[in-house]
Amino acid sequence: MLEKWLLVGLPALSSPTVPAEALAALSSAALPQTLAPGEYLFHEGDPAQFLFIVQDGTLLASKTSDDGRRVFLREVGPGEVGGLTSMFVEKTRSATLQARGTVQLVTLPRSAFLQALSTHPQLYAAIATHLSQKVRQKTGQVATLLARTGRDATQLVAFFDAKPYERTAFDKRWPQTLHATYFDSRLDLSTVSLARGYPVVCAFVNDQLSAPVIEQLAAFGTQLIALRCAGYNQVDLTAAAAHKLTVVRVPAYSPHAVAEHAVALILALNRNVHRAYNRVREGNFSLNGLVGFDLYGRTAGLIGLGKIGKCLARILRGFGMRVVAYDLEPDPEFARAEQVQFTDLDSLLAQSDIVSLHAPLTPVTHHLLNAKRLGRMKKGALLINTGRGGLIDTSALIEALKSGQIGAAGLDVYEEESAYFFRDRSDKAVDDDVLARLLTFPNVIVTSHQAFLTSDALDNIAQTTIENIQAFLNGATDLPNRVS
Ligand code: NAI
Repeated sequence: MLEKWLLVGLPALSSPTVPAEALAALSSAALPQTLAPGEYLFHEGDPAQFLFIVQDGTLLASKTSDDGRRVFLREVGPGEVGGLTSMFVEKTRSATLQARGTVQLVTLPRSAFLQALSTHPQLYAAIATHLSQKVRQKTGQVATLLARTGRDATQLVAFFDAKPYERTAFDKRWPQTLHATYFDSRLDLSTVSLARGYPVVCAFVNDQLSAPVIEQLAAFGTQLIALRCAGYNQVDLTAAAAHKLTVVRVPAYSPHAVAEHAVALILALNRNVHRAYNRVREGNFSLNGLVGFDLYGRTAGLIGLGKIGKCLARILRGFGMRVVAYDLEPDPEFARAEQVQFTDLDSLLAQSDIVSLHAPLTPVTHHLLNAKRLGRMKKGALLINTGRGGLIDTSALIEALKSGQIGAAGLDVYEEESAYFFRDRSDKAVDDDVLARLLTFPNVIVTSHQAFLTSDALDNIAQTTIENIQAFLNGATDLPNRVS
């Protein structure tokens, strides 16, 4: 078992020149080790007395910079080996390694490694092959960095939480003058040091732009936070202003995409498409429990009638629905033209068969739909949220679903979504009990913040983000999409 991991970490050991006894000697000296979340494997400056191979989990490598700051270097994940050079030369650790979650490792003491080398000199050739491959890989990375520093340093963009579908849209459009580096990692305190030296940071909805992150960004020379999304509730705007960081966003990329996804959730839930799909594939052609209602003639209540709310209002009017709306800044002209009635929140909740949320998340709208307001809704009403998770008190929603007060819920956003959404977590148990409970309801559909996800919206996001960045770098004083 441990032999397998030695081969994963040091693939050169599988060379036919390495005798089986040499591998057996190494694997009998190897030791399994488990680190609890947050536990240190070693600290910078500790004597290096073992090599390690990560079996499961992630280690965070960090280092103390010249000015005394802890700088995150990189993540060390499954299959990666560390401490190999210190097997040959007596050294101290060059970085601190800490477990992010639970981490399983295989360690090999230096004494056992040197013993195996002296008994089986063939190991030297195999390890030398491995090290030369590593050197080649690292010199390639250095060459890339050198090429980057050769570019105009004022035009560098650090693009966090980059996904392949976004890269496709952006790569078509980057002008010659801008140089983006895509980072898979989300922006937070543990990854902010990746932004060192980048005047522009491009972030998305689940990147964390808290005050400490912004403080670090400012110290690293960032001047612009270019959000490639509409909402900016994840940004501490007070901190951004205090550190003179400009924040821009993409106020609208396709309100149609989001409104159409809201309609997809309404139709799927009302007509039980998600349940019918599974049933029929299992050979169950029964219709019991699949009864929906006609949208025609029913009332939809839209909370927030801005760009997205207006698109949805038009679509639902097309179904022959009555549409009522609640907005802090009503648009009477639109209401007249599209036959939408503005009303107060309580009246909207009391009369709507479907309630859909399209207001931004602000301190005022946080838990706008709490237990009290959910209780004021029409019994059995359908609730749709493509706005922001924090608009609904999720625990109160679960109680309302249990009692039947809410007939069905379509949620594209969730209060604690950042730990889950946009990631493949299919090999792990859901450890968020509230989300896990939500997923047990047959009358709840959760999608992973995908309402915006159309090729048209991605193209618009790329276009506007690049225009925002260029305008800032060109010194425009009046940035149209400036948040702060
Ligand atoms: P918008 O700014 O055009 O419209 C928001 C409307 O909400 C405005 O009319 C505003 O007056 C109203 N409003 C503000 N505070 C309110 C309050 N306390 N009560 C009632 N109404 C209030 O924004 P847009 O483009 O329609 O987007 C709405 C929200 O949708 C965004 O803030 C964002 O959080 C979310 N969104 C979700 C996406 C997804 O993929 N799920 C994608 C894009 C946006």
